[in-house]
Amino acid sequence: MGFLSRDPIMILSSEHHANLTEVLKWRRDVRHFSTAALEPALLKQIEACVDFAPSVGNSRPWRIVRVNDKNRKAAIVRSFEECNRQASLIYQEKARQDYLALKLSGLIEAPNHLAFFTDLAPAEGRGVGRQTMPETLVYSTVMAIHTLWLTARALNVGVGWVSILDPQTVRNVLDVPESWQLTGYLCLGYPLECDDKPELHRIGWQTDTQSVWIDR
Ligand SMILES: Cc1cc2nc3c(=O)[nH]c(=O)nc-3n(C[C@H](O)[C@H](O)[C@H](O)COP(=O)(O)O)c2cc1C
Repeated sequence: MGFLSRDPIMILSSEHHANLTEVLKWRRDVRHFSTAALEPALLKQIEACVDFAPSVGNSRPWRIVRVNDKNRKAAIVRSFEECNRQASLIYQEKARQDYLALKLSGLIEAPNHLAFFTDLAPAEGRGVGRQTMPETLVYSTVMAIHTLWLTARALNVGVGWVSILDPQTVRNVLDVPESWQLTGYLCLGYPLECDDKPELHRIGWQTDTQSVWIDR
């Protein structure tokens, strides 16, 4: 029996499109979190959606660590603080003060932390699709992160991506295999604010940006 005859085609409605557009528009990178705990059932719903993410050759290379231990969380906060201080050194004087005034993580307040790693040699998928562009394994993990991000937003949970971290420190703190590459470190929690504009635009760090498209 052929693939096409197995299932009726699932036609989505304009309502699906409208709802998706709203979720996309109101998804924000959240740095201001309530410390209120997320209900376990809600977390389960968010986590379950990761399984819908696409991946190169269906390799599903994401390895996700729930960072529960308070000492490990504190070590991650210390890594952020040191990396953020280092990052500020590329700016001079006033610009450095402006940079240091930015809130670039909600690591301390957010009740949940998730570290997304990419297994650079996953058995699943048997190598399909990634021979010319092995970096597609990492892209796949980014797809999983985005899937979780949108799902969380649809459930009124905020997500903040923190990349100002030393990957080797994070690997050591979380005691994961060397072959797992840190791809994204996420804070999750209820957001304290909500806006349809990125915070870096709102506070004047940058002016409005546009996607670049060209025709050939
Ligand atoms: C790969 C990646 C890494 C990011 N790292 C950080 C970070 O370390 N700290 C931070 O405050 N925001 C971080 N962000 C969030 C971006 O600053 C944010 O997506 C951007 O300003 C646009 O805002 P929006 O997500 O609210 O639309 C990151 C986003 C991505 C996709």
